[in-house]
Amino acid sequence: MDKPKVVLGVSGGIAAYKACELLRQLTESGHDVRVVPTDSSLHFVGAATWSALSGNPVSAEVWDAVHEVPHVRIGQAADLVVVAPATADMLAKAAHGLADDLLTNTLLTARCPVVFAPAMHTEMWEHPATQENVATLRRRGAVVIEPAVGRLTGADTGKGRLPDPDEIFEVCRRVLARGAAEPDLAGRHVVISAGGTREPLDPVRYLGNRSSGKQGYALARTAVARGARVTLVEANTGLPDPAGADVVRAGTATQLREAVLKAAADADVVVMAAAVADFRPATYASGKIKKKDGQEPAPVELVRNPDILAELATERRGRPGQVVVGFAAETDDVLANGRDKLRRKGCDLLVVNEVGERKTFGSEENEAVVLDADGGETPVPYGPKEALADTVWDLVTRRLG
Ligand SMILES: Cc1cc2nc3c(=O)[nH]c(=O)nc-3n(C[C@H](O)[C@H](O)[C@H](O)COP(=O)(O)O)c2cc1C
Repeated sequence: MDKPKVVLGVSGGIAAYKACELLRQLTESGHDVRVVPTDSSLHFVGAATWSALSGNPVSAEVWDAVHEVPHVRIGQAADLVVVAPATADMLAKAAHGLADDLLTNTLLTARCPVVFAPAMHTEMWEHPATQENVATLRRRGAVVIEPAVGRLTGADTGKGRLPDPDEIFEVCRRVLARGAAEPDLAGRHVVISAGGTREPLDPVRYLGNRSSGKQGYALARTAVARGARVTLVEANTGLPDPAGADVVRAGTATQLREAVLKAAADADVVVMAAAVADFRPATYASGKIKKKDGQEPAPVELVRNPDILAELATERRGRPGQVVVGFAAETDDVLANGRDKLRRKGCDLLVVNEVGERKTFGSEENEAVVLDADGGETPVPYGPKEALADTVWDLVTRRLG
């Protein structure tokens, strides 16, 4: 079988050197990669590096090997185009259909999925011109992965960093695996909560739960590959940020509620995969609670936490069309309890899974039934958490119409 053909576009950002690592991962995993740099990017990494690493000819302009009509053929033949790093300039050109070099021509002739991994200073990223260009590209079906937050060129820190090459590679792998399937969440903003909240009792102790956050992260990764703008609100997972998602950190149920409701204000979909504590200690001791000789410990009084899922489902009335998805971990009467919960909360879909000693939190696999408010039931057999995530997105996109 022919190797999948990937075009790696490299534009003129300081992060161009990181694309060498992405190229290696792509070639070593059996892809035929044609690197198409821009003139500016060649100031950072030379054509010899791209040619030697890819084993293919490299040119930035349309005037080389004209008999092969490269300005058309490279894009036509590609199974995937990934531009990493994508400069502010490249996003603008792509959004407006300019074609003044080989990469921009390739972007116009490609009919395969296109992934942009922008990288630039925070000011450039946040500029309304860049944001509008990104929104245009997403609306047209491109996968634009959110830049990471961290150290930028020079002493600056902020949003705009190129995500790790291995995370970009994972996005490419997922997009390629979807084949000709449309990025059906393109132009959509999805908010996902993941992990487990911790409710502090004193400076060293908390009430927590066993949620690892892996299912929420799988939802975030698959949503990125399907073209969504993703906000991931994570609680205490310790997992590496998935490329392309905006990650917001929350510790307690109260913090998670605040972050989710804020992000939900302009979201098309909210998926509450986090295990949010139902109760928290009524009081917080500012000093460590000491054990005292001969005395029994004082009982811990608990108060209820707000029900974020129910609140989202109710408030959605102000956001017509928003799809709200909940998760329910049940130990017995799984389906009956799930149906009951779906009715009580008023959400559109509820993913019900059985938890217990045999079915541990933290594993890479899951098995669930997705209940639909319309009465539908979609069983998802035991398998990778990403497979369950994709089933959830299939059902969500059906609802979004
Ligand atoms: C040292 C240096 C670093 C740069 N880094 C970035 C960057 O990370 N992102 C970006 O959008 N532009 C960056 N630029 C500006 C671009 O190189 C410039 O906009 C150029 O016209 C982009 O051309 P291209 O999009 O055709 O590659 C940088 C310029 C210099 C000199």
